[in-house]
Amino acid sequence: MHVLVTGGAGFIGSHTVAHLLTDGYRVSVIDNFSNSSPESLRRVANLVGKSPELYNIDLLDAPALKNVFESLRPDAVIHFAGLKAVGESVAQPLRYYRNNVTGTLNLLEAMEAVDCRTLVFSSSATVYGESTALPLLETTPRSATNPYGRTKLHIEEMLEELAASDPRWAIANLRYFNPVGAHESGDIGEDPQGIPNNLMPFVAQVAVGVREKVSVFGGDYPTVDGTGVRDYIHVVDLAAGHLAALNYLQGSKGAHVWNLGTGAGSSVLEVIDAFARVSKRPVPYQITDRRAGDVAENYADPEKARLDLGWKAERGLEQMVGDMWRWQSQNPTGFPDREFGTMSDQELNEFIRGE
Ligand code: UD1
Repeated sequence: MHVLVTGGAGFIGSHTVAHLLTDGYRVSVIDNFSNSSPESLRRVANLVGKSPELYNIDLLDAPALKNVFESLRPDAVIHFAGLKAVGESVAQPLRYYRNNVTGTLNLLEAMEAVDCRTLVFSSSATVYGESTALPLLETTPRSATNPYGRTKLHIEEMLEELAASDPRWAIANLRYFNPVGAHESGDIGEDPQGIPNNLMPFVAQVAVGVREKVSVFGGDYPTVDGTGVRDYIHVVDLAAGHLAALNYLQGSKGAHVWNLGTGAGSSVLEVIDAFARVSKRPVPYQITDRRAGDVAENYADPEKARLDLGWKAERGLEQMVGDMWRWQSQNPTGFPDREFGTMSDQELNEFIRGE
């Protein structure tokens, strides 16, 4: 089976590509490297002994996208490509709508033109907005509190309408909780540009000494220790969830939705403690004001994925932190900086194959 992965060089994408290749899938990757590096795929190729075919294409370039679909004719698509920073989306809403919504629209049209109608979409628990009814179920009403979240919501709705209009489509909306961790080799992991927005990469950078201390956004929430509680999920478990969803879609058309979380929450202070323990390094922190838009607590009910897909998260907080620490300590400043902008697709593919 031939799977085309958009955003396959990114954090969740690269781990999923590794899993697909290991399981014998033929994999093609489309990425524009706006927030990723071909280096991740070079390392994937090294780890699994096989490489994906790589195309440097922007989803906004509809003609180029159509061409690639016409020449590859994949059986299914896993769609990760998208912008994902909440604060940036508030400052640049049109860029977010254009990139995420229009990019997905172009992708769907390119798929339809070659009769490829199986899609796994990278949605997010952000579509539950500020819901306080826990645990979060797939049936919990959706809302958005910022443009990034609204792009995910719009895309989910667009996909539901598409599946309703044509019974040949098989679509999975996967709502991720908080993806963290790294491949157990420490060779691939999350490589945020600039100052990380999310807690775990920030804590990892403090432990390794790249940043001075963690600001804990609020110490007076009604939670176990006053700090925010989230459902962190290991990226390798998340990758496995995509393969399980893809498998399910082989036998079931229509639009489906699954939460991908562990069902258990950890507080900010529990995360900081776990990191200090695993890294044996001090992780200084300071409690500051709450961050606008944050909820006290959120965690998934992952039961639907277990029942339908036979999938559940296997890795706990210790392993998430342990793997993340291995990645961070082996790559304190992420993937090496290198200029890829001028490389042709052929040169990029030679690079990831190590030729
Ligand atoms: C955030 C986004 C969410 C997005 C998700 C993607 C916001 C408001 N939400 O989720 O839409 O889908 O990332 O991964 O940005 N924290 C600190 N100090 C920090 C960073 C975070 O105390 O420097 C706390 C937060 O208050 C929260 C927890 O750590 O309680 C997790 O934060 P984060 O990693 O940013 O994830 P979310 O806010 O859950």
